[in-house]
Amino acid sequence: MPTNKCIGVISVGHFLPHMCVANDHFVSIGLDTSPEWIESRSGIRTRHIASDNQATSDLAVGAAEMAFKNGPISSNQIDFIIVATATPDHIGFPSTACLVQQKLGLTHSVECLDISAACSGFTYALSLAYSKIHSGMGQYGLVIGAETLSRLVDWSDRRTCILFGDGAGAAIVGTVDSGGFIGFNQGADGNCSHILNCLPTENAVQFSGKPYPPGVSMIHMDGQSVFKKGIQVVVDSLTQLLSEANINSNSIDHVVCHQANQRIISSVAKQMGIPLEKFVINIDRVGNTSAASIPLALSEANARINPGDTVILVGFGSGFTWSSILLKWN
Ligand code: UT7
Repeated sequence: MPTNKCIGVISVGHFLPHMCVANDHFVSIGLDTSPEWIESRSGIRTRHIASDNQATSDLAVGAAEMAFKNGPISSNQIDFIIVATATPDHIGFPSTACLVQQKLGLTHSVECLDISAACSGFTYALSLAYSKIHSGMGQYGLVIGAETLSRLVDWSDRRTCILFGDGAGAAIVGTVDSGGFIGFNQGADGNCSHILNCLPTENAVQFSGKPYPPGVSMIHMDGQSVFKKGIQVVVDSLTQLLSEANINSNSIDHVVCHQANQRIISSVAKQMGIPLEKFVINIDRVGNTSAASIPLALSEANARINPGDTVILVGFGSGFTWSSILLKWN
């Protein structure tokens, strides 16, 4: 039976692998770049990299454990787990969500699935969680964005390897006394799939410096086209979201935008007329962590978001996909 109760985010958590790599690393491995170029063009100074024995599901479990610790819902109350990732533990199956269920030691019946919407994955997953709970198909969901993107980049390609990092963020979603989700706006444009995709690549190099197998699938990006398209879809999506909710941008307290480029965030702030100080920013420390980016930034900012604050989450990424969510913080 559909519920009339408010549905919102109950608690959040995040996890970053221990290893932290600064911009001068790229010079030390022989790339024709500089720490200054990377920071000035992207805003990134450091990113975290998973160790060889850390799978995406391990980062996801770290984030989930923190989300359970931070809130009143325990893991055995969860009805479903959704993991948004472009870097699942296994190509094909089982899903990373099933591995998270196993690693959390959950033996009760839990629905587990992964979704693929690149950097929009977490917000797509949140909207799915909302729909499931709203329609009565579960009371509490664990929604995770988790990535090991360092394994999807060619560390000899200076156009991409400088941008990405590993990490995870998680949210427990369920019924709340008041507030919660107000509106959703999301979409995709498959005609732009070619500007950011994974293609068979020869002579690609791993983080360790060892070669990848020939023809391995690696991230390829037309940086400038992604930059322009990203700003356009985020501004369009936010404009529609606010208009449909009949909310003025002055009422927004916090914006958690996908952390792809500091200059993209600044441009969105300017075009939306929302002060940059209201944007949560951690790209300088963690780089672009794709589906983990929004929940990681949200969890890091949790201490400064007050109950009742109006929050926007907005993502964009390969597909091309975009997704924005308006909610009152609980
Ligand atoms: O999750 C969503 C995904 N990604 C994004 O949102 C990324 C969006 N795009 C961007 O963030 C930016 O386009 C980049 C940071 C990737 C690149 O910045 P840009 O200002 O757009 O640089 P560009 O691609 O126009 O390249 C300018 C120059 C080129 O040299 P030439 O052709 O002018 O001689 C590049 O070859 O900079 C060169 N370049 C570099 N130089 C030093 C490209 N990468 C590097 C590098 N270090 N790492």
